[in-house]
Order: sequence, then structure tokens, then C-alpha cells
Amino acid sequence: MSKGREFAPDDPPAMRITFLNQKGGVGKSTASILLGGVLSTAGYAVAFDDRDEQGSLTWWAREIGRLPIVGDHVMSDVIICDTPGRLDLSSATNRQFLQPIVAASDRVVIVSEKSAFSLHATKPAIAFARAHIKPGAKILLLFNKVRANTKVGRQNVRDLPEFDGVAVLDSFLALAAPYENVQTEGMSAVTGHYREQVLKLALEILK
Ligand SMILES: Nc1ncnc2c1ncn2[C@@H]1O[C@H](COP(=O)(O)OP(=O)(O)OP(=O)(O)O)[C@@H](O)[C@H]1O
Ligand SMILES: [Mg+2]
Repeated sequence: MSKGREFAPDDPPAMRITFLNQKGGVGKSTASILLGGVLSTAGYAVAFDDRDEQGSLTWWAREIGRLPIVGDHVMSDVIICDTPGRLDLSSATNRQFLQPIVAASDRVVIVSEKSAFSLHATKPAIAFARAHIKPGAKILLLFNKVRANTKVGRQNVRDLPEFDGVAVLDSFLALAAPYENVQTEGMSAVTGHYREQVLKLALEILK
């Protein structure tokens, strides 16, 4: 395992960043890995908190990224939390599961593709985050899998009342092979321009 410090009594609490969207396949796990991976290479002590029973993040942290997960008894600056997709938010059980996760987060990053359909399907996640976010924490919208010439603009999102209180991140993730390859190759798949974009995104989320 490459990173993580021993516990120190005076350490400030870790910043907890949660990736959320009940819509499946938008890139929550990929964004979790990229953010944790890049912050780790930039010198932050990162731990992953995998709250999705699919276990993608835990598998990646153990087998590919060689990074700690919560429970490994390391002190971290940043905790990256991944959540399940395909979760019906009209179910009380699902809401009870997600509520403490959102309430404990300093940043809730809603991941969406930049399409009208994806944004529409993201509205319940936004409403849920807004209802349960703690004071001082932020809800951020991250566009993932963005193709050149994608039409839905930042202004379109700002004009949607359902997105009130949500800050659209200036940084986004392009649809790109290095971001897909990170699953099997780890952060060595993400170099040059692609790494710079992820680092920029990570710093914007921490800000
Ligand atoms: N920026 C990207 N460029 C290319 N492929 C991507 C990108 N982001 C995600 N993918 C691919 O899209 C698929 C879905 O991504 P991922 O598993 O991260 O989504 P998810 O939201 O975690 O899904 P689930 O809801 O099932 O947990 C994966 O095959 C992943 O490699
Ligand atoms: Mg996932």
C-alpha cells in the first residue's frame, strides 16, 4: 500500500467527498478512482469508502491502485466515497441508506453526462442531496464523458430551477480511453493532458 499516514491526535478531520447519482453508469466509480488516484500522486493521504455493494472501488483500491480503504487504520486527508447506481430514491430503505452518507459529506459531487436525458434523470439525486447536505458543505455538478460539440451548456443547467444551489464545476471529464483504462491499468493510464485535467478537477472540488 503506497499512501496513508499513521493516526496523529492533532490531525484535522479528513475532507469527505461523495460521488452520487441514483442513475447508473454515469461514472461515479471512475470519477472516484481518478480523483483518489490523482490526489494520492499529488501527495495527499487518500482513503476510499466504498458504499456500493458491487465493490468496484474496493476491488480497484486493493488490486490496481494499491491505496487504503476506510478501515485500514490509516489517517487520511481526503476520504473518497462511492455510492450505488440504479438506486430508486422513492424507496424509503434506499433513502435511509443514503441519508447519513450525504449528511457526513463535505462535498457531494453529482456525476452526470452532459445530455438533456441524463440531466433529467439526475434531478432526484440533486433534490436528495439538497435535502440532506450539512451546513457549509457543497453540492457540485460534474459532467463526465463529455464529447466535443456536446450541446447542453452550463447556462442551460443554471436555468433549471431543480439545479438551484448546485455549483457546476468548471472542470469536466472528457469521454476518453485513458479514463476507461484506469480501471485496469491504474493511474499510469492517465498522463499528460488527461492527468492535468483530473488534477485541476480535484483541486476545484477541494477548494
Ligand atoms: N470519462 C470517461 N471516458 C470513457 N469511459 C468512461 C468515462 N467515465 C466512465 N467511463 C466508462 O463508463 C462505464 C461506467 O462507468 P462507472 O462504472 O464509473 O459508472 P458508475 O456511475 O460508477 O456506474 P454504477 O452506477 O453501475 O456504479 C465504465 O465502463 C467506465 O469505464
Ligand atoms: Mg459504480
